[in-house]
Amino acid sequence: MVNRQSCSRFDLILPNRRLHLIHRSDFGFLGIPALEPSIERRMPTDFVPPFPHRLPQVPSVWHRARLWRQNMLAVFEEQAFEYNFARMRFLARDIFLCNSPESVQFAFGAHTDSFERKSPTHRHLLQPLIGDGLFVSHGDVWKQRRRIVASILHPSRLSEFAPVMVETALEARARWAKLAPAELDALSEMAQLTAEIICRSVFGRQLGSDRALQIVEGFSDYQRRIGRIDFISLIGLPDWLPRPHLPGVYRSVRRVHAAIDDVIARLRMQRDGDGVSVISRLFDARDEETGAPLDPQALRNEAIVLLMAGHETTANTLAWTWYILSQTPEVEGRLHSEIDEVLGDRPPTLADVPKLIYTRAILEEVMRLYPPVPMLSREAGREERFEERRIRKGSVIVVSPWLLHRHRKLWINPDHFVPERFLPGSSEPVSKFAYIPFSVGPRVCAGMAFGLTEAILCVATLAQCFKLRMKPGHQAEATCRITLRPGEKLPMQIVPRV
Ligand code: HEM
Repeated sequence: MVNRQSCSRFDLILPNRRLHLIHRSDFGFLGIPALEPSIERRMPTDFVPPFPHRLPQVPSVWHRARLWRQNMLAVFEEQAFEYNFARMRFLARDIFLCNSPESVQFAFGAHTDSFERKSPTHRHLLQPLIGDGLFVSHGDVWKQRRRIVASILHPSRLSEFAPVMVETALEARARWAKLAPAELDALSEMAQLTAEIICRSVFGRQLGSDRALQIVEGFSDYQRRIGRIDFISLIGLPDWLPRPHLPGVYRSVRRVHAAIDDVIARLRMQRDGDGVSVISRLFDARDEETGAPLDPQALRNEAIVLLMAGHETTANTLAWTWYILSQTPEVEGRLHSEIDEVLGDRPPTLADVPKLIYTRAILEEVMRLYPPVPMLSREAGREERFEERRIRKGSVIVVSPWLLHRHRKLWINPDHFVPERFLPGSSEPVSKFAYIPFSVGPRVCAGMAFGLTEAILCVATLAQCFKLRMKPGHQAEATCRITLRPGEKLPMQIVPRV
């Protein structure tokens, strides 16, 4: 039974009961047991970390579009955190919001073939930079590239990547030891750390960190310059029409492409038996049917996708984690106890990851409250129906981890920070279609195991020796352009642990 409500711009279907959920989120590749009776469960914290102002009522379409350009998270009205399924008309397009486990399962699970393509806005936002790269491709191209990338990032390969993660985090720790008690920008520190990890993993250790950072800075420049709404698609014009971008966009694309092409050319020439880096596996990848290698453009596009997808998401999660730990001494204390008990003074290894259960729960709760990719979108490739509602071909489907993860009917105290929800055996059941920081279904993040392992190892390595404290007077602010960050900067002081 559903309870229908209507308002001026949204047609809503609200659930009239608390949804009964049976699955728990499952990161089984980390080898964490389903139930660990020795874990002590305590009272949840009552800390509510910041979130943008919520509109008291449904805004006009144009007001929403204006807010969207400033901060994608500021466009929601209070009621949006209870919607189940909603429809909005924007110019020539229907936009459907799937905001319940059932509707997410419908779009990203059961009917995934109909909603395989990313939305036009999403595609045209990234195509100048990544061409037909995995993140925006579909059909046969996506299938072929997904097979290749999934095998390269497969959890069984974590043993090759984990030493790079720990080595890089130890270098950051040594740098912090020289800096302490100075102040640093935790957001750019984490971006630097994860950029270094992904660059070393993709290109091997030969690439100097200057070069790596140059590429990563190129991405940030691109993000700053590119627009965020594709009005051409929204007024119903076809896909093949060229999208005009400002000249600066093409300049930053050319810079990134030239840098990557140069690195790839050098690495091709000096392949000295390095079979571990991602790039050497991309060199070796062959099409299952034709046996052909990836052409140079495809290789470049996939390398860019991995560098781009693989650093900012983890960096933002880590930055939010430092902020939240600085505000919750009890959680921080438990984290330190776990790290000390599992690791003592030695650096972590991959084998420690399944034992760092509370560390992982903190990260999972951080990604619930601040999902690094808070908005996912698809285009309907054919007509579909959900709960008597017609979804026409060409409609846009939006799934927002930001809304779902704070949905009032799915979570207890949805805005509170309570890592205990994610401890094994927690009494709060989580549907795998309600907790989706890595998305869900066939297009689930290909680097999920990589990213989660990386975050656990980085937190463990750094928190072994240091705490971070917020600069007095500075407020973290949840803002989103493409990914969700704690503002432009996160000034924090390094405090050595005694
Ligand atoms: C905390 C870390 C991370 C989070 C939260 C995250 C989240 C996501 C999400 C939500 C998507 C799906 C986007 C959509 O459906 O529109 C995605 C896709 C993807 N991610 Fe991640 N990601 C993380 C780390 C990584 C890392 C470390 C890598 C690579 C090493 C990576 C590689 C990819 C790739 C290649 C895709 C495209 C998959 C496809 O379309 O088939 N991600 N990620």
